[in-house]
Amino acid sequence: MEFSRNFMISFPVLLLCSSLAYGQVSSPTAAVIPTPTPAPAPGPAFVNVAYLLSVAGPYQTFLNYLESTKLIDTFQNQANDSDHGITIFVPKDDAFKALKKPSLSNLNDDQLKSVILFHALPKYYALADLSDLSSIGPVSTLAGGQFTLGFTDDSGTVRLDSGWSKTKVTSAVHSTDPVAIYQVDKVLLPEAVFGTDIPPTPAPAPATDISPSADTPSAAESKENGLSTKSDSSSSSAHTIMKSDIRTRVVLAVLGGWMAMIF
Ligand SMILES: *[C@@H]1O[C@H](CO)[C@@H](O)[C@H](O)[C@H]1NC(C)=O
Repeated sequence: MEFSRNFMISFPVLLLCSSLAYGQVSSPTAAVIPTPTPAPAPGPAFVNVAYLLSVAGPYQTFLNYLESTKLIDTFQNQANDSDHGITIFVPKDDAFKALKKPSLSNLNDDQLKSVILFHALPKYYALADLSDLSSIGPVSTLAGGQFTLGFTDDSGTVRLDSGWSKTKVTSAVHSTDPVAIYQVDKVLLPEAVFGTDIPPTPAPAPATDISPSADTPSAAESKENGLSTKSDSSSSSAHTIMKSDIRTRVVLAVLGGWMAMIF
């Protein structure tokens, strides 16, 4: 009888205590939930140029030329060289379609290679640094010596001049040292291949076409990372809650015993 009286009194008290104890115990431990482990620091970045071009935009024609001439190895080798890097100017498929005269179809293998190599600088340039090239004068391309490009900074827009082709950078496809890939409006035609008998410039080029930065692979990557860290942290917080639950029970058991002794 004595025992059940004790129990009758201590049980509601115990319930009250349990809710108090739970609030007290669980909130400090909630603050201790470990933050998600940061992603490991990236090693020397390997950028697969062919893959990037294949997913980033309508650059299949340029990629086909890179592969048919085997110059993709030259480009990739330069991209792998983290001391220098590479800056690639990639024309959209449309730019190749628009190329009527002169066309690339009459070129011999060496000339075609030179034209493709003409679309890259043997060094990584961030977009801002590209504007600074205007003060340097003609810049040598991957095609070598006399294959130079002129750069001008037109209040933030980078314009390129090869003699035959006057174009501009219309979007940054990828720009992380040591690899930069910028989209240009036109195929770059070097004087060293097509001669200096350049027809007068026609009416100004229509419509700017600035496509959104097409950095799909890295966006997908970070999304994947985000998902994995999220699941990590939720499992670890579940763990913490279980732990605090056990602690709450221990506290309650002690309290319960203590109450029973008092009453
Ligand atoms: C570039 O580096 C990658 C990764 O280290 C390697 O697999 C590839 O063969 C290299 N390519 C060239 C052309 O140097």
